[in-house]
Amino acid sequence: MGIMKINVAVLFGGKSVEHEVSIISAVQAMANIDTEKYRVVPVYITKDNEFYYGEDLRDIRLYRNLKGLVARCRRVVFIREKGRVRLVKYPGGLFSGGPICDIDVALPVVHGTNVEDGALQGYLKTLDVPFVGCNVLASAVGMDKYVMKILLKEAGFPVLDCLRFTVPDPENVKKVEAKFGYPVIVKPVNLGSSVGISKAAGPEELEHALTDAFAFSDKVLVEPAITQLREINCAVLGDASEAIASECEEPFATDQILSYKDKYVDGGKSKSGASKGMASLKRQIPAELPPELRQRIQELAVGTFQTLDCNGVARIDFMIDKADGSVWVNEINTIPGSLAFYLWQPVGIKYPDLLERLIALALKRRRKEEEITYSFDTNILSMGGPFGSKGRK
Ligand SMILES: Nc1ncnc2c1ncn2[C@@H]1O[C@H](COP(=O)(O)OP(=O)(O)O)[C@@H](O)[C@H]1O
Ligand SMILES: [Mg+2]
Repeated sequence: MGIMKINVAVLFGGKSVEHEVSIISAVQAMANIDTEKYRVVPVYITKDNEFYYGEDLRDIRLYRNLKGLVARCRRVVFIREKGRVRLVKYPGGLFSGGPICDIDVALPVVHGTNVEDGALQGYLKTLDVPFVGCNVLASAVGMDKYVMKILLKEAGFPVLDCLRFTVPDPENVKKVEAKFGYPVIVKPVNLGSSVGISKAAGPEELEHALTDAFAFSDKVLVEPAITQLREINCAVLGDASEAIASECEEPFATDQILSYKDKYVDGGKSKSGASKGMASLKRQIPAELPPELRQRIQELAVGTFQTLDCNGVARIDFMIDKADGSVWVNEINTIPGSLAFYLWQPVGIKYPDLLERLIALALKRRRKEEEITYSFDTNILSMGGPFGSKGRK
């Protein structure tokens, strides 16, 4: 008899503009999980939110023919049964062969709206299965660039001032001009990978930029553009009680704005021909920084992570204004591309170790949650009392 393995459901894909990036991140993660200790259970979420299970999902080359790949997988659903969470085939029936397996912990490797923003986390929470990464609130906050800024500002972190618009309106341009002038950056509040982001140097460009951004989101953010920009990213690993910073990286843009194309399409191709995603973006690791600045960024990164009550691994992206040296927290990615594994290797944490720590953090949170009372075993309604049809007085 071998040791019991922990069953890890790796969830990826979903109804997000970063669907393909998530596939790349997830396949990398699955290839790096220590299979002596863990059984990897790949669960692919289609753009229609259907769930599929299959061992073929671990091979990036097979995604070129997505239809064929999905056809070879089993449609599945998660259910709760006998105090456990199980992955079962759908449709079920007499000859379906019973459950595929029980799930001990879920590892969401998803990016973007509808999945990284607390939606999938809420689903996993309702299933009552421990899962890696931020809880529902931190995931939602991390996805909303506006709410994130408000919380960070309140806590004294350096974030650029901004305006948020919730309806397209000609007045928006005037409000931006009154508050900031030009140039400004316009972005959807809740997307990633630079989708819908543009710079505007005048009213006409601003109008276009706003229309563009509103096509991708119902909420749009405008902030002053840093013209002499340097970008530095730093990841953080841990939870509320303990968190550590990774090495810093400097990503390089070939375009004015680091675009989806820079990050994922043009990025170096691996031998199999598949893009390596975030890990292959033109970047310098470690970023060339004076030691004090490096330390300041690492401290701001850990502070941001803990202020937003994050868990697991997140990447915090900074902007440095070369004109005056000021440092700004730009955004947090609560499920960073490639889980930011390449930022941990330089500080001595290999990818399999990173994954092991992430799973341990998920189980630690579960143990802590179990100490908190969420419901009572007695049915209060069974005790009689003032619960008449008029309700409680
Ligand atoms: N205020 C700004 N000034 C200058 N460039 C910016 C500003 N905000 C964002 N950018 C550029 O746009 C890119 C994408 O913006 P970001 O807020 O990081 O959104 P995303 O979630 O799409 O990555 C940044 O990496 C940076 O190159
Ligand atoms: Mg970014």
